Amino acid sequence: MNESKDGKTLKHPFEEHRKDFPMLKKMMHGHPLIYFDSAATAQKPQVVIDAITDFYTNNYGTVHRAIYELAVHATTEYQATRSKVQAFLNASEPGEIVFTRGTTEAINLVAHSFRRAFLKPGDEIIISTMEHHSNIVPWQLACEESGAILKIALINDKGELILDSFKELLSDKTKLVAITHMSNALGTINPIKELAKLVHESGAKIFVDGAQGAPHMPIDVQDLDVDFYAFSGHKAYGPTGIGVLYGKKELLELMPPYQGGGDMIKIVTFEKTTYNDLPLKFEAGTPMIAEVIGLGAAIDYLNTIGMGTIRTYEHELLLYATETLKSVPGVTIIGNAENKGAIISFNVEGIHPLDIGTLLDLRGIAVRTGHHCAQPVTYRYNISSTIRVSFAFYNTRAEIDHFIVMLNEVIALLR
Ligand SMILES: Cc1ncc(COP(=O)(O)O)c(C=O)c1O
Repeated sequence: MNESKDGKTLKHPFEEHRKDFPMLKKMMHGHPLIYFDSAATAQKPQVVIDAITDFYTNNYGTVHRAIYELAVHATTEYQATRSKVQAFLNASEPGEIVFTRGTTEAINLVAHSFRRAFLKPGDEIIISTMEHHSNIVPWQLACEESGAILKIALINDKGELILDSFKELLSDKTKLVAITHMSNALGTINPIKELAKLVHESGAKIFVDGAQGAPHMPIDVQDLDVDFYAFSGHKAYGPTGIGVLYGKKELLELMPPYQGGGDMIKIVTFEKTTYNDLPLKFEAGTPMIAEVIGLGAAIDYLNTIGMGTIRTYEHELLLYATETLKSVPGVTIIGNAENKGAIISFNVEGIHPLDIGTLLDLRGIAVRTGHHCAQPVTYRYNISSTIRVSFAFYNTRAEIDHFIVMLNEVIALLR
């Protein structure tokens, strides 16, 4: 499955694991599905599907509120996932792990609560040109509401953050830097540890959008020394509707709740309400119990493979795909950072990305076309959209070879 045309066989360290994904056996328009859109959402291994089905079929009950066995079991599973996530990110304690609906909600939570705790008129927040809309709009809202000013760190033609201009933006007015770990549009991996050091030296805090980071590389929030880190379950082979916010305890303690409701309180009276301890202060209402359990299964599954192994393998896929794609006449790759994750955005001279995406779909190949929820990136390159292929550890060189053949065919048809 993983032999390529150049005769080399890339050792697929988890060839067996490909079989764990039922969707990868699917036929699309009469062709075997080649799924190259894992940056949007990843396919699910059977263990995740089974964990959710088992919970709904055999063990369903609420969390936190009841003493009967089903509820105790659900609560234990729910909290066990929190500990799994804590270990996955190497956070200091489970209280630093808040469950949200996804990265987007995690960012909105921080933008809202950080703004209420710390922002005043004239303060500054820095984001970068390569952010996903989820890591732009919540900060625009926070600035509108607080009178703070949004500053934009620029990128070079390769799609890398320009460190000198980033340093120039940092000042004693900077309260927070919100930056992506890995760009979903360009694939750029930012030097988070280095940035965190600079940000802290200037007295500010750093939020990292890890939507594309956590599913594809080992994460150690203590080693990176970031103040906040967020990711989505569905991009990490888990269910939709579940995400994670890591926050340093001392900061989360100082921030007010994001939403009010059940579970996030200690005592409610009409005169005064006191809030629950971390992390429940930030988890109002009946949570996404099945989704949390599904995320726990996904993390167990990833641990059996190893995030370091995943990173190494996906990087080899990236290099192979980049080289082969460059051989296709008329292709321009947008985003050529030295440090990249397994995402390639490209355009083909004279052909609209949508046409290519549509014809590839008819050949069973799922790629993404458009602005990838990162419109400022497209403005930076004076384009309106790209074709994006993004890989996961279940993809193979053979799939890339087939994709290149089909891409050439589609281009010939459209020319
Ligand atoms: C870099 C980045 N940030 C944030 C998000 C938002 O994630 P979600 O839609 O799961 O909340 C995405 C999703 O594509 C992303 O790629």
